Amino acid sequence: MYDLEQAITERHSTRMFLPDKPVPAELVQEALDLAMRAPSNSNIQPWHVVLASGPARDRLVAALLKEAKSAPPKVPVLPEAFAHMRSDLGKLVYGSMGIAREDKDARAQAVLRNWEFFKAPLAGIVCMHRDLDYVDAMGVGMFLQTLLLALTARGLGTCVQVSIAGYPGIVRDQLNLSEDMRVLCGLAIGYPDPAFPANNLWVPRNPTDSNVALVDR
Ligand SMILES: Cc1cc2nc3c(=O)[nH]c(=O)nc-3n(C[C@H](O)[C@H](O)[C@H](O)COP(=O)(O)O)c2cc1C
Repeated sequence: MYDLEQAITERHSTRMFLPDKPVPAELVQEALDLAMRAPSNSNIQPWHVVLASGPARDRLVAALLKEAKSAPPKVPVLPEAFAHMRSDLGKLVYGSMGIAREDKDARAQAVLRNWEFFKAPLAGIVCMHRDLDYVDAMGVGMFLQTLLLALTARGLGTCVQVSIAGYPGIVRDQLNLSEDMRVLCGLAIGYPDPAFPANNLWVPRNPTDSNVALVDR
């Protein structure tokens, strides 16, 4: 088990899992029980999570991959002012996979792995009730980060995936989700593939003072 600082530092996105190494159910249960301690507006606990494994996960992946091969995902478009950050991240992530910028086929194959949950044996879907608002999405985020840290502390890899929310109808149909549930993101959980170089990428952050202002007068 890690201490908190180690878990925060160690957590990073895993983009290739060991498909045949099962995720112990008791570790996931412990992590979920800890994440339930997350704060939320009026203690609504707005997160609703579905974890699919085995044939349920495989059916979901098959349906998502089929759709992803024929129609683009409906993910929120980044405003112009932030678009460069996606492109900077793409250079880092695909560069670390050894994919050249101009190799569009290899990049498309790598992107497609999103809808296989990067081969993770456990495929999570994170939802929130449709009538809830931004303030409640903050609560879901707090739950999610707590979950990621608790899973990291148990030696598991994770990747949060907005790409999964790009096909909400498929997710809803496959998992019998109520129409009331808004699909916010996916969450891949499993043991990282140590042979995949991009799993050792630690994406840099801004200097803290570019995001935080300290005001005392
Ligand atoms: C809400 C959210 C959505 C994300 N969606 C995706 C995604 O669809 N595909 C992906 O490969 N990574 C996705 N990520 C991972 C981010 O790219 C990653 O967290 C960020 O680049 C920082 O890298 P790190 O997690 O390795 O520290 C997402 C992360 C968050 C928090």
